[in-house]
Amino acid sequence: MSGFEQEIRQELKSISQMVLNGTNSKKKDFARGILNYPAMMVPSVQEPIINIISKYINEDINLIDPFMGASNSLVTGMKSGMNVFGQDINPLSLLLSQVKVSFFESGELTEALERINQKISIDLSSTIEVSFSNIDKWFKKSIQIDLSKIFRAIRFEKSLKIRKFFWVVLAETIRISSNDRTSTFKLHIRSVEDIQNRKISALKTFDEIGRRNINEIVNFVSVLQGNGYIRNGAYFKDAEVVFGDTNAEIRTKKKFNLLVTSPPYGDNQTTVTYGQFSYLPLQWIPSEDIDKEIPKDYLNTYRDIDNKSLGGQSKKHITEIEDQIFKKSITLQKFIFQFEGIERKKAEKVTRFINDLDNSIENMLPKLNKNSILVWTVGNRSVNKQMVQNDRILEELFDHKGIKLFTTLEREILSKRMPGKNNFSNMMSKEKILIFKKNY
Ligand SMILES: C[S@@+](CC[C@H](N)C(=O)[O-])C[C@H]1O[C@@H](n2cnc3c(N)ncnc32)[C@H](O)[C@@H]1O
Repeated sequence: MSGFEQEIRQELKSISQMVLNGTNSKKKDFARGILNYPAMMVPSVQEPIINIISKYINEDINLIDPFMGASNSLVTGMKSGMNVFGQDINPLSLLLSQVKVSFFESGELTEALERINQKISIDLSSTIEVSFSNIDKWFKKSIQIDLSKIFRAIRFEKSLKIRKFFWVVLAETIRISSNDRTSTFKLHIRSVEDIQNRKISALKTFDEIGRRNINEIVNFVSVLQGNGYIRNGAYFKDAEVVFGDTNAEIRTKKKFNLLVTSPPYGDNQTTVTYGQFSYLPLQWIPSEDIDKEIPKDYLNTYRDIDNKSLGGQSKKHITEIEDQIFKKSITLQKFIFQFEGIERKKAEKVTRFINDLDNSIENMLPKLNKNSILVWTVGNRSVNKQMVQNDRILEELFDHKGIKLFTTLEREILSKRMPGKNNFSNMMSKEKILIFKKNY
């Protein structure tokens, strides 16, 4: 390792624990609060890491996040003037990311909110605009009527960009006004009493979230403007987000020199159910306003998105997968071999997930130039009361591809919502940030 590489490594190591665990600043995490999308990487944690690595790369940076989620990596990259690209399999992540990478004038959003509120106030219709099975279970009739008024008012807006912004506001309004408990990411109905006694106004919530989100976005845009990154009414570099399954392909011809991501920690069903979390909001948002390529069947059941995500579904027989993946990770093999019978069956989900992750990495590598840096935030979890060492496994997968670990940082997680009562798996309380360098 060269002297310069040593220096960078030292600098990364010297990032304080306070910065890593995110207690240093909430203010810097702009555009974070606009939708409570699960398990987000914290921008104020990524920022110092990205800044140090930028010095090392020392050329125009093209950043990719192949599991973009709430697109915090992308937002952090934009703040440093990078070209950014993100992909995710969840349409709600895509919508949120589209909004975060767009340029808005503060006036246009405030005026649109006034127009929408005005339209709602004169809308006396009680027509319900969407239908899906169990709608009456998840929404009180009065809430359905109000959400439909909001729906009609947003749909009336001419600009797609403005509609997208307000669909995100509606998504958060739905999360709060439905009968789902907000304390978990899984769909979990409130008690009958709770539903009856709850006094929540969807219209008031929509207005409040609208104002809050306008503030968040205006703050973010003003940071970009302050840095001189807004030119001719847009971000001065390339910022693209797409819908796609990273396990199948990365949908761009672009090349990158920095990858920053936090992948899922395991299959979505037993860790963070991003799909279930998104199910109710997505019922109310026209998919063609997000992306025309989104298949029509992604909301057939509340499990569809999670089934399509990493580790969700695979037609391959488990022995065929094991033959391949155990050669790449001895830690995974040892983990699986400690179980028998029903426990072994449960643990198979881990093998399928890691195999999908490995496949996704194979898809990423051709997109990365020589000397690219890869920053992976990963957490360990337990299955059958035993720890799945995702960090060790990831290191071995990369090692098998000739990519060595550059350095590791560890962060403690202070507050993360757990995925609810779940006998099968527990979530981690520590995360590791593994930094790799691709020498070829
Ligand atoms: C931990 S989140 C990503 C957080 C993100 N890196 C950030 O900075 O906010 C993991 C994401 O991976 C996505 N995901 C899971 N399987 C996927 C797949 N096969 N292709 C693309 N995205 C996938 C999930 O939808 C989820 O949004």
